[in-house]
Amino acid sequence: MKRSISINLNGIQRQLDVETDATLLEVLRDECRLSSVRETCGIGICGACTVLIDGEPISSCLYLAPLADGRAVLTVEGLGSVDALDPLQEAFVETMAFQCSYCTPGMILSAKALLASNPSPTRADVARYLAGNLCRCGSYERILDAVLAAADRQRPSH
Ligand code: FES
Ligand code: FES
Repeated sequence: MKRSISINLNGIQRQLDVETDATLLEVLRDECRLSSVRETCGIGICGACTVLIDGEPISSCLYLAPLADGRAVLTVEGLGSVDALDPLQEAFVETMAFQCSYCTPGMILSAKALLASNPSPTRADVARYLAGNLCRCGSYERILDAVLAAADRQRPSH
């Protein structure tokens, strides 16, 4: 059975017909062709499928697409552009905070939510907040460096 939903996807209003039991991950990848939203575990453990819903990070593999009706969904494709990267994207590139980059979109979106609520996190704050995002390549130290660099860059004094 299908249901029509209306979502603001990366700043653009979209009307989508989704199966009532489809996950948001399936809809974003298969219908919207947003390949940054990645599936690894499929059970809410790895964070690779993280997107922001109304600014809050969620595991899209566990989130039914109809629940997104009327909400704003942000994937990393909506964060910046090639010419104007988001400060987090810039910091990840400059710090080389990845190896395979499979975890990177989810990491960046979780970090985006953290910096929105806490613009001056400590290293421990960042590590704690990103505990639900796993990196199989073990790039954790550089990821923390990147988030702290982005926080520094975003603070009004800079
Ligand atoms: S694929 Fe969703 S948390 Fe791992
Ligand atoms: S950079 Fe490969 S999983 Fe994180």
